[in-house]
Amino acid sequence: MKSKIVLIGFMGSGKSTLGKELSDKLGLFFFDVDAYIEEKYQREIKEIFAKEGEEAFRRMETEALKEILLKEEEVLVSTGGGVVTREENVALLKEKGLVFYLKAGVETILSRLKGDVSRPLLQSEDLEKKIRELMAHREGAYLEAADYVIPTDGTSVPDLVEECFQILKAKRKNLDKNLT
Ligand code: S3P
Repeated sequence: MKSKIVLIGFMGSGKSTLGKELSDKLGLFFFDVDAYIEEKYQREIKEIFAKEGEEAFRRMETEALKEILLKEEEVLVSTGGGVVTREENVALLKEKGLVFYLKAGVETILSRLKGDVSRPLLQSEDLEKKIRELMAHREGAYLEAADYVIPTDGTSVPDLVEECFQILKAKRKNLDKNLT
């Protein structure tokens, strides 16, 4: 049985914020993959990118994902926006988790991440162009990995939490019905 709930989506799509609130509501332990990596290696993500490069970070990310997704417990996992760039990660997410894609438009992401200095891939003169490029490159993979696509533009966090909660509740009900 898939026992993990996984949030995927572009940087700034609200995965961590929603993840914390939804895990509270569900009474599940919450893992943020980026925070897990920072804790494990005692370094900030931007430092890892600067000193060891993106490839090294991606290796750490895959390893962290495995460690988290291979746990026995039911947990809620928020991933980094680039997790779908490795097929191996997508396969693992699909195998172990019920995957929610938090879909945010370029305008929303741009307004949230203007001035952000913590995301190495977005340190660009032309932030909008960079977001559009990365998004175009990744959108297919997000959709491919997703069990549910949740549009987030213009919807409040409590409403998004409720939407995900209702999806999970309906799914659980169906499952119980099939088991009895
Ligand atoms: C990345 C997203 C970041 C972080 C790293 C790379 C990406 O996580 O993992 O900076 O490639 O999209 P968030 O999506 O939580 O910002």
